[in-house]
Amino acid sequence: MSTEIYAPGLEGVVAGETAISTVEGGLCYRGYPITELAEKTTYEEVAYMLLHGELPRPAELEAFRQRLERHRQLPDALLRFFRALPPDTPMMDVLRTSVSLLTHFDPDYHRWPKEPTAPAALALVQDLLSKISERLLAQMAAAIAAYFRISRGLEPLAPKSGLSHAAQFLYQLTGEVPDDPAVRAFDVSLILYAEHEFNASTFTARVITSTLSDPYSAIVGALGALKGPLHGGANEHVMPFLRRIATPERVEEHLQAMLARKERVMGFGHRVYKTGDLRATILSTWAARLAQSRGETQWEVIAQRVEEYLRTTKNLHPNLDWPAGRLYYYLGLPISLYTPIFAASRVAGWCAHIREQWQANRLIRPRARYIGPPLRLVPPLQERV
Ligand code: COA
Repeated sequence: MSTEIYAPGLEGVVAGETAISTVEGGLCYRGYPITELAEKTTYEEVAYMLLHGELPRPAELEAFRQRLERHRQLPDALLRFFRALPPDTPMMDVLRTSVSLLTHFDPDYHRWPKEPTAPAALALVQDLLSKISERLLAQMAAAIAAYFRISRGLEPLAPKSGLSHAAQFLYQLTGEVPDDPAVRAFDVSLILYAEHEFNASTFTARVITSTLSDPYSAIVGALGALKGPLHGGANEHVMPFLRRIATPERVEEHLQAMLARKERVMGFGHRVYKTGDLRATILSTWAARLAQSRGETQWEVIAQRVEEYLRTTKNLHPNLDWPAGRLYYYLGLPISLYTPIFAASRVAGWCAHIREQWQANRLIRPRARYIGPPLRLVPPLQERV
């Protein structure tokens, strides 16, 4: 047996190779710095690059957009399922079941090879993964909007032709085409959420894929991991937290009490970034801009005081969920949708990693350090007291 390496939470462990993104020296997707991407591209361009390796040429982007538009159509069975759900079913749970249900209606999934390891099957697997990824990208966003409307007694909306992915989502949710600053702010948030190396949900997707299971199972697993408050669930806690503080004067007292109770401030801290998260810096600018235009600057004032307090007392810095929670609120989005929106964006990264795992697969199977009872014999049932 090889030498034992033990790192609780796999902290600092390099668990695989990837060409999709790195956090070393500032986040880059396929070599492009996140600052550049947030400034010069749209979510569709980024999603295309994550899935297919390179930024699209104009004709490739147009064809990709048209495919996404076609895939936004949801099967009737999914809409019937939405109507049958108990009121107030959490959106992340709905999304998880939706992805599972969509498996059965995907014509490409029906072509999934029975023996995917056969060399002849690998090219087919890559082709199907490409198609399934694009379908999921469109359908997850459409499913969130459709369930949101149905849960409020409204009819789901057909997609409006010609809208960007970001604008389409906001339109299918509200029935209104939002203004350009709102669309761009939302688009930037999707770019920033799209991919992040071996985070917990992506790693989950890769673990599932490493058994040569199917991509839908991998995405269902990733959704389960993302839902947790230590991962994607954090963005939904930001506004309730700011509302509890209520005024800038209460920041210190509130945080002191929280930290004394060993409570975590959601949207702060990161396993990898210990001196700050570049994504949070980029999105903070957009959040502040929107707050200004919507007359909601009181939350920004409190947020800044919170940042200052945690930086100086605990050396804690905001992560992306901190500005995202505020930005989505200024856009008028319901808090229950924040983590699902994260998922609808991150599905691009998940699918890219699933494809990459298939390209050079090795079963992910670490060891555990045993800390249970020492070796002992099984006593007969009658003698157990
Ligand atoms: N609020 C308060 N204290 C925090 C904190 C937070 N958000 N994040 C970390 N800390 C503290 C821990 O309590 C610990 O303090 P201690 O040494 O006095 O016990 C120290 O910082 C190190 O924390 P640790 O849990 O070892 O860091 P980690 O790398 O395991 O944690 C997170 C990373 C993301 C799980 C953690 O920062 C967290 O829980 N953040 C809140 C949830 C969140 O925003 N998640 C989204 C991540 S993108």
